[in-house]
Amino acid sequence: MAAKPKQTKKSPYAADRGIPAAHEGETVTRRRFMELNALTVGGIASAAFGLPALGFAVGPMFSDTTEDEFKRVGLEADFTLEEYVPTVITIVDDASTASKTTVYLRRFNPQIDTDKFRQPYVAISNRCMHVGCPIRYVQASQRFICPCHGGIYDFQGLVIGGPPVRPLDRFRTRVQDGLVEVGPRFSVTDALDEMYRPRDPSNDLDGLWKYLYPPRPTT
Ligand code: FES
Repeated sequence: MAAKPKQTKKSPYAADRGIPAAHEGETVTRRRFMELNALTVGGIASAAFGLPALGFAVGPMFSDTTEDEFKRVGLEADFTLEEYVPTVITIVDDASTASKTTVYLRRFNPQIDTDKFRQPYVAISNRCMHVGCPIRYVQASQRFICPCHGGIYDFQGLVIGGPPVRPLDRFRTRVQDGLVEVGPRFSVTDALDEMYRPRDPSNDLDGLWKYLYPPRPTT
């Protein structure tokens, strides 16, 4: 009967395994040790840079912070179906002028409005969706015009010219005891079918962009 081949136990020492430059008694060569060190340090450095950026990008998606307070802006009789009335509201409760914004307001008009928001009033933000300049409504042409780079929006706030990437933001509206109230801001796409949490100007919302640009609860 043939004898079974004797199993040789592998030495734990690098020198015994014929690894070049290994010293007597080493189980891990210095080169391997340096490689592991470099990988560990690289991983820590990547995490130090990457995690805060990831938190910054993704965090606001899970934040419930919104400006959910409604502000009274006038009587129902102050607003019509055909003309926007510029109204200044406070969006942050501090004393600075930066805490205020202009909202263009009119009654919802089923003959004109194609949006699915079911808001009694159409409240359009005056912040241009290119880089944020204040736009102005021109009644004669029924257009919102941006003086900075020639952005033009139609009566519903949809882009019809210039560089803005999406329609003008809107605000929620409601009527309480005969008074019109303006609430939180929301962003929209050309379809005017969904209220998106506010995005910054220049942030596109079509297709995958809505996931790549996180909501920003800032004003
Ligand atoms: S900021 Fe309005 S077009 Fe550039």
